[in-house]
Amino acid sequence: MQYKKITINPLSGAMGAEIEGVDLSQRLDNQTFDEIHQALLENLVIIFHDQTLGPNECKAFARKFGSLEPYPFVKGLPEHPEIFEIRKEPDEKRNFGGKWHSDMSFTNMPPMGTMLYALEVPSKGGDTMLTNLYLAYDSLSDGMKELLEGMNAEYSAALKNSGGRVARMNSTRFDVANLDRAEECSFHPIIRTHPQTNKKALYISAAHLARFEDMTVEESKPLLDFLREHASEPDFTCRVPYRKGTLVLWDNRCTQHRALNDYHGERRVMHRLTIGSNEVPQ
Ligand code: SIN
Repeated sequence: MQYKKITINPLSGAMGAEIEGVDLSQRLDNQTFDEIHQALLENLVIIFHDQTLGPNECKAFARKFGSLEPYPFVKGLPEHPEIFEIRKEPDEKRNFGGKWHSDMSFTNMPPMGTMLYALEVPSKGGDTMLTNLYLAYDSLSDGMKELLEGMNAEYSAALKNSGGRVARMNSTRFDVANLDRAEECSFHPIIRTHPQTNKKALYISAAHLARFEDMTVEESKPLLDFLREHASEPDFTCRVPYRKGTLVLWDNRCTQHRALNDYHGERRVMHRLTIGSNEVPQ
């Protein structure tokens, strides 16, 4: 697409774009929003630096992409339940989202997107790393594509190897919620077609992938291990660098991500919003 209202700076050869020329605290005209939306579809993750946004402005921008969903396992801000704070303090070692995953893949309708707004960032490090799951699919052999076509996998919130989003959260300072939903799981196609781009992606959510449908965990493991490793091949990735006031939005339908934990002794604080979807993965 030819962009007229925004400027795009690619983040890596694989994915990601920093967008210049937009102040998200102002009302966006239709063409600017259409270009931003197109930039998300083309680049999978978009980044706006140097924004000055309160919770209401973050919510208003996120709502342009879909309805907001509270994150199930952490209580939201008292006045803004759709937003929760990801906070790592200088004396903490664990971080949130430190293993490769695609958000809430264990639900029946995993969210379309996730938005982070950086309130406080370490002096170095603390990037989010993402991987392009279209590239992960495209680079498979025809034989492997054929094998995986039509296969479903079980995605679970309670896997031991998940590092465990849920188990670990109990040991962090998050105000946890709904831990009774920790056993939640869902079956989705391992190859899914993006509803807007119509492109196929290898739907890997490494921390949540339990097994293939109709197979045991042990039987599934060798192939799932290969796919987990394949999907995080460095050539498919980008890193999102933050500064205070950076807003990031990624598309969970064709990416997975992990929060890097290379800034011990410093604080990192993000507001996180989840943008729902009304489509089951196909
Ligand atoms: C997440 O997994 O949603 C958190 C990512 C991050 O903090 O970089």
